[in-house]
Amino acid sequence: MSVARIAVMVSGGGTNLQALIDAQESGIIKDGKIALVISNNAGAYALTRADKAGIPAEVVLLKDCKDRAEFEKRIEDLLSEYDIDLIVLAGFMSILSAEFTGKHPNRIINVHPSLIPSFCGKGFYGLHVHEAALAYGVKVTGATVHFVNEIPDGGKIIMQKAVEVMEDDTPETLQRRVMEEAEWKILPRACQKIAREIVRGN
Ligand code: GAR
Repeated sequence: MSVARIAVMVSGGGTNLQALIDAQESGIIKDGKIALVISNNAGAYALTRADKAGIPAEVVLLKDCKDRAEFEKRIEDLLSEYDIDLIVLAGFMSILSAEFTGKHPNRIINVHPSLIPSFCGKGFYGLHVHEAALAYGVKVTGATVHFVNEIPDGGKIIMQKAVEVMEDDTPETLQRRVMEEAEWKILPRACQKIAREIVRGN
């Protein structure tokens, strides 16, 4: 295999998707190619980012499916259709079932906006993570890229980066700093690392 075909799954703004697109253009990601974007939200700005970059995008809505199993089956069908090797969850706000994750061991990675095992697991997503970090009063937080298994945010850690919490931070300012200083840096690097392992047959 010369290049690992990547599907990026998104739900919202897609700044992490943008970081991946930019990293592909700048050559930070060289053993992977973003071949597909899947969104579970038809209004996600991430879809516009995919369009601007000329990347095929598909929308799969839970409300159009009779149950979660059908929702995941539609995603599986797309992954096969586009011949995907690596799945990257970049702000994908839906927990995938153990059945789904079990089919792709070490082939799904996720970016989480804290230093796992702090502020992670069920209910900890998006801004809530930063609200929890500020409420606890931690002075350092960060981001983690990890493999996805049947335990929410419980898979093996691939990369982490720490970010300082400022005295006057709000959840929004902290979220932005964690994205800029950590997520947008480690997600592309982790993606390249795993893509390279896939290409080399590891
Ligand atoms: C990011 O901060 C990402 O780490 C987080 O949602 C945001 C999505 O932003 N993901 C989670 O909380 C998953 N548990 P984006 O759409 O701009 O990339």
